[in-house]
Amino acid sequence: MHRSHTCGELRTSHIGQEVILSGWVQRSRDLGGMTFIDLRDRYGITQLAFNMESNAALCEQARKFGREFVIKVHGKVIERSSKNMQIATGEIEIEVTSLELLNASKTPPFTIEDDTDGGDDLRMKYRYLDLRRSPLRNNLMLRHRLSIETRNYLDTVGFMEVETPYLIKSTPEGARDFVVPSRMNPGQFYALPQSPQTFKQLLMVSGYDRYYQIVKCFRDEDLRADRQPEFTQIDCEMAFVEQEDILNTFEGLVRHLFNEVKGFDPGAFPRMLYSEAMERYGCDKPDVRFGMEFCYMNDVTKNKGFNVFDSAETVIGIVAEGCSEYTRKQLDELTEWVKRPQIGAKGLVYCRVNADGTFKSSVDKFYSEEDLKTWADHCGAKPGDLIFVLSGDLDATRKQMNELRLYLGAALGLRDPKVFKPLWVLDFPLLEWDEDTQRYHAMHHPFTSPKPEQLDMLETDPGNVNANAYDMVINGVEIGGGSIRIHDRGVQSRMFDLLGFTKEQALAQFGFLMNAFEYGAPPHGGLALGFDRLCSLFGGSDSIRDFIAFPKNNSGRDVMIDAPSVIDQAQMDELFLHSTAPAE
Ligand code: AMO
Repeated sequence: MHRSHTCGELRTSHIGQEVILSGWVQRSRDLGGMTFIDLRDRYGITQLAFNMESNAALCEQARKFGREFVIKVHGKVIERSSKNMQIATGEIEIEVTSLELLNASKTPPFTIEDDTDGGDDLRMKYRYLDLRRSPLRNNLMLRHRLSIETRNYLDTVGFMEVETPYLIKSTPEGARDFVVPSRMNPGQFYALPQSPQTFKQLLMVSGYDRYYQIVKCFRDEDLRADRQPEFTQIDCEMAFVEQEDILNTFEGLVRHLFNEVKGFDPGAFPRMLYSEAMERYGCDKPDVRFGMEFCYMNDVTKNKGFNVFDSAETVIGIVAEGCSEYTRKQLDELTEWVKRPQIGAKGLVYCRVNADGTFKSSVDKFYSEEDLKTWADHCGAKPGDLIFVLSGDLDATRKQMNELRLYLGAALGLRDPKVFKPLWVLDFPLLEWDEDTQRYHAMHHPFTSPKPEQLDMLETDPGNVNANAYDMVINGVEIGGGSIRIHDRGVQSRMFDLLGFTKEQALAQFGFLMNAFEYGAPPHGGLALGFDRLCSLFGGSDSIRDFIAFPKNNSGRDVMIDAPSVIDQAQMDELFLHSTAPAE
């Protein structure tokens, strides 16, 4: 028997019991007369006590164990003389009577404690050791809990989990595909799915009217804190529903997760139109934990001789509450920050609304105190506040101001990770124009249904057609998105025309779906939630990597197993591949 209890289990109620524990040596302390070992496993840490007086040989043996040795002990649960109320087992310790070394360990390359001394790269290389640390373990436990509760909820409301294939067909829409060469079909490739989108729609045609899958998706795109090349979706689809049914069902799921896992109900999710989100926050995933909404200042800034504002399509302000005493240095730094190429503003205008009722702006040459008072009134700025103003083309200025708003929100502590503000963003445009390729792209994907009342505009005014498409946004993170789908072959075919597919291309790429639509496709729609993002949000972190057991680094590499890697010539030949990149 390796253990009678885990290292997180024993309490004062066990005092006097003989127990067996196995685990890893977190650390040992030699106090001369006594030696203590903190024994760790997945469940917690228990203190082992060795007494030099009562058993010198055992004590000597224990002193030899280094960090991360795997040991097994027999002993008696006793009350601790100095209790540690920070840990669940802190009131007891084990008076060890026998000891067995199960396996030795090299000295780990970093300390396996909550605050580790290991850098990112080192911890990624030894991920299996990093996973022993409790912050990561707690993250993975949270992930497990969320997946169980997701399954519970969806099962209760009639959803059925169906697996869809990972080796599918490459399509030109969306992000880049990861492809897999087929040995049995020389020169041909599978693609790994970016999502199970078409399969879940086919399942609707098959009559599985409530489908879900917690599923891996693969996208060969540039990586960020909230993007991994392989990530997990809670992918769902429903038939015989309208948008309202879908919003209610998945709002229900996420509220259930908050209730079960976080212990509170965030309440009904507010709804905001895409156009409104863009107007008020310059962004389709606004963080509504704080205000600082956009204030359009064209009317109060024009025709005062300041050419920058006069010639701009739009002038937008935001109010930073209580910041009127920002130093010159702080303002210069913010100006430099918005001028970085990533943000791209030409400059930043500010106006202090001083506590004494006076005003001071960076454009005093053009605007009188009275003008500035008009600005403040227009934007709702109070004495003690600071107004920031950006100007230029509408889209670019909104984007820049969104970045500045988020930056200031973080700097002012207004983006508290313990506060959760979900919302639905509705009615996304169906298409977006791409200057580079001079054609429309589907904003969501090509299977998204236009608003039925706007069907006639598909050919006449496609840029202004809205879709029955929605995103779930929480704290400024796009947690999920979906849409009501096209279920009519004719409409689907018009959509492919709009996206620049020839009839032949549309048939070759998506013929299977269009054919399926001719065999009784029900009205349907769905959504997918980004499961890694949901986990990191619940865990109060911006980085999804910490919630994935074995993630890739920012260059898409797994540095632990060293992938991707070159394959040998024989394998290349078998797959009919010719090397173009020089082998390392
Ligand atoms: P979409 O492409 O919006 O929709 O993806 C759904 C959600 O998946 C998450 N997500 C990612 N998470 C981590 N790393 C990535 N690289 C990544 N890309 C996306 C986001 C996003 O909201 N088939 C449609 C859904 C549908 O219409 O039903 C789809 O995949 O949280």
